[in-house]
Amino acid sequence: MEIYKANDNRYADMVYRRCGRSGLLLPAISLGLWHNFGSVDVFNHFIQIAYTAFDNGITHFDLANNYGPVYGSAEENFGRILKKGLGRYRDELVISTKAGYDMWPGPYGNWGSRKYLMASLDQSLKRMGLEYVDIFYSHRPDPLTPVEETMGALADIIRQGKALYVGISNYNAEQTEKALAVLREHRVPCLIHQARYSMLDRWTEPELLPLLEQEGVGMIAFSPLAQGLLTDKYLNGIPENSRAAKSTGHLQREQVTEEKIHKIRQLNELAKQRGQTLAEMALAWLLKDDRVTSVLVGASSVAQLMDNLKALQVTGFSEEELLAIEEVLGVSELRS
Ligand SMILES: NC(=O)c1ccc[n+]([C@@H]2O[C@H](COP(=O)([O-])OP(=O)(O)OC[C@H]3O[C@@H](n4cnc5c(N)ncnc54)[C@H](OP(=O)(O)O)[C@@H]3O)[C@@H](O)[C@H]2O)c1
Repeated sequence: MEIYKANDNRYADMVYRRCGRSGLLLPAISLGLWHNFGSVDVFNHFIQIAYTAFDNGITHFDLANNYGPVYGSAEENFGRILKKGLGRYRDELVISTKAGYDMWPGPYGNWGSRKYLMASLDQSLKRMGLEYVDIFYSHRPDPLTPVEETMGALADIIRQGKALYVGISNYNAEQTEKALAVLREHRVPCLIHQARYSMLDRWTEPELLPLLEQEGVGMIAFSPLAQGLLTDKYLNGIPENSRAAKSTGHLQREQVTEEKIHKIRQLNELAKQRGQTLAEMALAWLLKDDRVTSVLVGASSVAQLMDNLKALQVTGFSEEELLAIEEVLGVSELRS
């Protein structure tokens, strides 16, 4: 394969949003490598997804130590993509990785100890062939490790130059408040919080989003399409090759319930009235909120990614549209 050369017009259409009160701008749409970039996937296929992303101004690629399957293979594959040419643009890329979930056997390959985070980041850098990542996350709170230890490790990682910024993921509002306080003592700001947020999952709204805004921390919404549910793909059953059909997919068949599909059909009609696909509307709906720095999508094809990018063409909503969406969703139950 030839060495990749990026599209000269890559910055023409993307919108960049400030991450909290930091100096870092992130693209409104970022690409996550949780699925579709592992050793079970096809290299020549996903390298095109990565190139298409960067060619369209997606500067932010999100990974974690255990993305694959197999664990580590998404980072390895991303390292190969960098070597094939994307790495020539290293200073135009924001690459993140994380540690916090199960990664290797024994007592040091999981959760939030200093021992785990330090070793895991060294492994991630090796797999990707990088000297540093732009953002390193504590992937989840650890109820048994003092938050001082986990945040202390993040602060030291910054001082070692192995990450430029740090973030937290899956911390609730109370845990976030504590983590931010410890990082503040280390004079290391928390750049960003990565949380699950979509039309179908509103747990962040009552407490977390207001806290992040007040503290000047950015927010990146993961699974903004609810792993594909908020698209037109499951309207008539579970297609072959979809995430819900694959044995390696994290969306279980049981999660594609008739009740959800009933709502999704109605949302799909509302999207059509706006002249958008449901995927586009679901992403635009998140981006209407300034507190959401970026939506972190996954894509199993170039066509899906191109569809998702179109979300940026119509991001405004009328009061009537917002009300109609809330009515379909029956919101109060989704916020808990
Ligand atoms: N911090 C955390 O704990 C955490 C947890 C989960 C995810 N994340 C991050 O968030 C990223 C995104 O998560 P996600 O993959 O669940 O996001 P998502 O955007 O909600 O779902 C992506 C999946 O939806 C389907 N899809 C996407 N665009 C589509 C379109 N236009 N039309 C039809 N189907 C479409 C594809 O599934 P098919 O395979 O069915 O085609 C795709 O793989 C991850 O890669 C990861 O970086 C973080």
